[in-house]
Amino acid sequence: MSEAGKKIILSGIRPTGRLHYGNYFGAVREFLRLQEQDARCYYFVADYHALTTITERREIYADTLHMLRTYVACGLDPVRSIIYRQSDLPCTAELALLLGMITNIGHLERGTTYKDKMAKIEADPRTEGNPLSYGLLGYPVLMAADILIVQADIVPVGDDQRQHVEMACDIAGKFNARFGETLKIPAAVDRNALRLPGLDGSMKMGKSDNNTLDLLDDEATVLKKVKSVPTTTDPEPLGTDSNDPDVVIPKMPAGVGVLYRLLSLLAPEAVYLEYLEAYRSGGKFYGNLKKTVAEHVSQFNAPIIERFNDPAHGDAFIEDFLRSNAQKVTPVALDTVESCREAIGIGRSLYRA
Ligand code: TRP
Repeated sequence: MSEAGKKIILSGIRPTGRLHYGNYFGAVREFLRLQEQDARCYYFVADYHALTTITERREIYADTLHMLRTYVACGLDPVRSIIYRQSDLPCTAELALLLGMITNIGHLERGTTYKDKMAKIEADPRTEGNPLSYGLLGYPVLMAADILIVQADIVPVGDDQRQHVEMACDIAGKFNARFGETLKIPAAVDRNALRLPGLDGSMKMGKSDNNTLDLLDDEATVLKKVKSVPTTTDPEPLGTDSNDPDVVIPKMPAGVGVLYRLLSLLAPEAVYLEYLEAYRSGGKFYGNLKKTVAEHVSQFNAPIIERFNDPAHGDAFIEDFLRSNAQKVTPVALDTVESCREAIGIGRSLYRA
């Protein structure tokens, strides 16, 4: 444990270029909450993971800087939290290699990222990407290495990543069973991560589905996007807001559900309840609802956009803290890798001094 008794938190996000509301309410909001607690927080940009589907050069470095600027604009603090880039910790790859030796292929074939991609290819054989790469199949092994290398206690992730964290726990358990207690097994992920539906009324907001509301969207863009939310499709049960069991979202057309979900996250409760009442009594008010939602979204975005554009938090600032944070996390990570080498029997590295 780093500083006596402090819980170790770790999470990562792939650099997809833009941070959207699904990322924010599914993960980043929790990062901010944990940062306020007396814990050791490691947050990183998973740039190696971004390569699992690569087919041609992509500006991943530029995306990484952009994403980190957005993180910082949202309130992540590179002093209180150790924010780094996965590829600045290359010993993660060494640990992934070691963990790969004890991971069954059958286990990996049940991984959600791999299975989803397979399903997409089956539906459309021209699906872009190099879906069957060794790297993609090994996605959960690399993720296990990310988690285990800092001896994380807690791994806050969105719902879609929960299975991967469970796989990391399994891999660590197997390693310890074979080679002796070496790796800390993190706690199971709690099941309450919020999954934000897409603006098109689909189950999930996701960049590849083109249905996102972004944290850097300006007022005009927000209004346009919110206005385009469909309100007429058949009701799909959205269920209750799992983050707040008191907020019950009745069965609504999916698009309407998204608007209410946003309202419940951003507007004062009284405003939310007023609209809920309007829904129950069946009035015609979607025009106003959309206007209100758009206003609250824009209000939420305004300070983030302002901080994002603050030259003091530009690329040079980001690169500076990436450098110093990589130096902070490296000794912690090397310690783990060296213990694993020793546990397995190849012995400590002879060149790392
Ligand atoms: N796979 C995660 C995602 O797609 C990113 C990630 C990589 C991660 N390694 C991790 C998350 C380790 C938590 C812990 O968002």
